[in-house]
Amino acid sequence: MQTFDVIIIGAGAAGLMCAIEAAKRNKKVLLLDHANKFGKKILMSGGGFCNFTNYNIEPNCYISNNPHFCKSALSRYTQWDFIKMVERYKIPYHEKTLGQLFCDNKAKDIVNMLLLECKLYDVNTSLNTKVFSVKKIENKYQLQTSIGNFSCDSLVVATGGLSIPTMGSSPFGYKIAEYFGIKVWPTKAGLVPFTLHVEDKNKLTALAGISFDSLVSNKKIAFREHSLLTHRGLSGPAMLQVSSYWKPGEVININLLPEMDLHVALQALKNTQENKSLNSLLAKHLPNRLIKTIIPNELGDKKCKSLSKKDIQQIINITQFWQLKPNGTEGYKTAEVTLGGVDCNALSSKTMECYNHKGLYFIGEVLDVTGWLGGYNFQWAWSSGYAAGLVV
Ligand code: FDA
Repeated sequence: MQTFDVIIIGAGAAGLMCAIEAAKRNKKVLLLDHANKFGKKILMSGGGFCNFTNYNIEPNCYISNNPHFCKSALSRYTQWDFIKMVERYKIPYHEKTLGQLFCDNKAKDIVNMLLLECKLYDVNTSLNTKVFSVKKIENKYQLQTSIGNFSCDSLVVATGGLSIPTMGSSPFGYKIAEYFGIKVWPTKAGLVPFTLHVEDKNKLTALAGISFDSLVSNKKIAFREHSLLTHRGLSGPAMLQVSSYWKPGEVININLLPEMDLHVALQALKNTQENKSLNSLLAKHLPNRLIKTIIPNELGDKKCKSLSKKDIQQIINITQFWQLKPNGTEGYKTAEVTLGGVDCNALSSKTMECYNHKGLYFIGEVLDVTGWLGGYNFQWAWSSGYAAGLVV
């Protein structure tokens, strides 16, 4: 049986980061993955350009049953630390919007950087490797795998979440947690498009492809970003963000004109005896096809000067208090992340080590920590991987 100081299961963002930090401390590290490539999700992220972090990382941009858990790791390895590494490797990047940082070239730049660091510090790696079993015997963890049996002092579980099953996602990390008696919170797809009931879908399907500025909210939170109508339902950044806070049966509110005091604007037009139709004025702010679908013809054709108080209220209700009740989400097949997962209360927030199992660590998305859209999830992977890498 071959022995290592540290074995990391999962060579994604968190696993790679942890391997580098541990190997820097001269630990003998084995990083293994059942997939045929390192960092598959990094490669496909951000539309192929990897939104690797965000200028505005804050703990309140993360969802967890223990909202304080992420604070320590995020403060010890920050977005600025990762940016420093990206700059050290001269990887060109840019801010797209809302502090989101993307590679100028390809996401591969990030994977190559992490693999170069692994090489530099002599991390042992093995792809296409299946782990059949994990056991703790005395103070060592023993693994039976498709390439042989291994033993280690520290076992790090970095198997990620369940989204995009074709990319190598598996529930293995949750199973390891349960095997060791650690609670796993129920999981759910997050940052995922909504699907609609048949009536809404039939009404909106002709608008597929239309994108619009919006303020989308539910009872808990509001996001001011773009929304997108698709053949299946609702997508775009604002919808994906709210999906992580959405509960089945709940209505979502859509403000199509978040910048406008519509009451004041329409009243002013009425007073100036504006002769144009309501639709022609709304067309300055909203896509034409969308207006035609949601505003009844008789209202849209009315001249602004002849709008009644009731008409004005109706327009406000339609455009600023549009409500849709999704019938669900597209689920893991298109979700960016998995909500829920390994209970953070079972771990030290400083080291990611389990309180009841010395030498057992969980990092990254397998934990019950889920970030917003915009580089927050990778930052959690880097920060939690780093925290464990310092102590394994
Ligand atoms: P990650 O999923 O990266 O890695 C887990 C690894 O474990 C995988 O390599 C997998 O093969 C391996 N594994 C799983 N089960 C195993 C088993 N049984 N045996 C061996 N190995 C196993 N986030 C962000 O911040 N910015 C972005 O731009 C995007 N974009 C994005 C796009 C898409 C399409 C998706 C699906 C996701 C994103 N994300 C994102 C989210 C981000 O990709 C995700 O949160 C991180 O990759 C999580 O890093 P981890 O290392 O925890 O898991």
